[in-house]
Amino acid sequence: MKREAVLIIDFGGQYNQLIARRVREHHVYCELKPYTVSLEDIRAFDPIGIIFTGGPNSVYAPGAPQVDPAIFDLGVPILGICYGCQLMAHHLGGQVTPAQSDTAREYGKTHTYFDTNCKLFKDLPAESVTWMSHGDHMAKVPEGFALAAHSDSCPNVAICDEARGFYGVQYHPEVNHTEYGAQMLRNFLYEVCGAHGAWTMGDYKNTAIAAIREKVGGGKVLLALSGGVDSSVAAALLAEAVGSQLTCVFVDHGLMRKNEGDEVQAAFDPWPIHFIRVNAEKRFLDKLAGVTEPERKRKIIGEEFIRVFEDEAKKIGAVDFLVQGTIYPDVVESGAGDAAVIKSHHNVGGLPDTVDFKEIIEPLRLLFKDEVRQLGRELGLPEYLVTRQPFPGPGLAIRVIGDITREKLDTLREADFIFRDEVAKAHLEGTMDQYFAVLTNMRSVGVMGDGRTYDYTLALRSVTTSDFMTADWTRIPYEVLDAVSTRIVNSVPGINRVVYDITAKPPATVEWE
Ligand code: XMP
Repeated sequence: MKREAVLIIDFGGQYNQLIARRVREHHVYCELKPYTVSLEDIRAFDPIGIIFTGGPNSVYAPGAPQVDPAIFDLGVPILGICYGCQLMAHHLGGQVTPAQSDTAREYGKTHTYFDTNCKLFKDLPAESVTWMSHGDHMAKVPEGFALAAHSDSCPNVAICDEARGFYGVQYHPEVNHTEYGAQMLRNFLYEVCGAHGAWTMGDYKNTAIAAIREKVGGGKVLLALSGGVDSSVAAALLAEAVGSQLTCVFVDHGLMRKNEGDEVQAAFDPWPIHFIRVNAEKRFLDKLAGVTEPERKRKIIGEEFIRVFEDEAKKIGAVDFLVQGTIYPDVVESGAGDAAVIKSHHNVGGLPDTVDFKEIIEPLRLLFKDEVRQLGRELGLPEYLVTRQPFPGPGLAIRVIGDITREKLDTLREADFIFRDEVAKAHLEGTMDQYFAVLTNMRSVGVMGDGRTYDYTLALRSVTTSDFMTADWTRIPYEVLDAVSTRIVNSVPGINRVVYDITAKPPATVEWE
């Protein structure tokens, strides 16, 4: 069977990687290339279909991104989205103009009517909601095109030339707000381009491994492993690609959850890599002794992490490549460009500038979180690592309020473990995006047996969120909270009271410090 690849031509829209992700979801391989891609490169890529993305410009503006018009003679189906649709119309003899009035501009959810005879809308409802974000209009539809969808304010929301396989939509099928957007993209891939959908995450893995091997050659590779999903998946991928040349440095700062350090180590044992676990607990706890101010704690940990990593890197000697587990949302959140550097500091407490390496490898840079998890499974990482909830770089240091001692950390570890265990028993993990225990610095009077106690109050925190920028507290069933509380006060010495944090973010944050 012919290799099936879709080329996505990037005109600078904000959802472009999302289009790529949607195509992958339909099991079709795709690549995103800038609009400056040459016709020879497009021919060499040999796509079964081309998608023009949206973009911030107006097609008639001076210097607006263009394509070589010969692209329309390749005999390859094209789907133009928003700017891409207008560009296609502009090149093929249509006319694009600014909206006549503010009311004619379309932003947001729009009720849209479809011609379901058009292949793009085959088997879909004749009316549904689309997500619009455009100020320009097609005043004249190019010759050979038929109108395929309209809204109350716009007669040509979608156009199609079925004979040539050209389709244009003014809305964004890739975003979730467009009700049947995924199916429309699927129709383009399967009904128009004739895809069979044989591509899998396993193929992604193989392609990524081949690319890493080619780049790294015989060079030495270093990776700072935090035990989080992203760095673990990056490590597994590199291990598979260039195992014997890879050194993973796992700085165990003694601020991990119960058994976490051992779990991370065990997960990487089967790979033929050089795995260094630096047991730096004493170093970190000594530096943190008596420190109560949250920002101080974070700074100390970030700084100490750099020192430990630097010491290990020096021992290893000249390293050619440094691997980072940057994923696509990190790139977006930090802004393009130097995003990788920004995130690495956030992720692992900062990597030293002084470590001598030639290049940074970011093999997950184009993947979304759930795709990273899928790749992790493909690589054989254990499920508990792949589905791990986020865990902050400074670890339990910011969940022990006030000064940190080994004893308090152990108390918290035990209580946190019980919370997670009870959540697992109740099969509630899917409803909670992050959940953990916090050892408050407050003590109160209690009664245990016949005696008085004066022990710490433990807080439970659980949030439900999609992006961690805002979050709601999870409505955990009372009986689960009851089981957690009872088990903790009965089995963890030093805790005589358990409370549940019912504050959203904002005004609170997810972590207490
Ligand atoms: P906040 O407390 O800011 O947390 O609402 C939002 C998310 O970020 C995580 N977090 C961190 N992650 N290094 C990290 O890698 C950090 O220093 C850090 N601080 C907070 C937090 O666990 C939550 O998922």
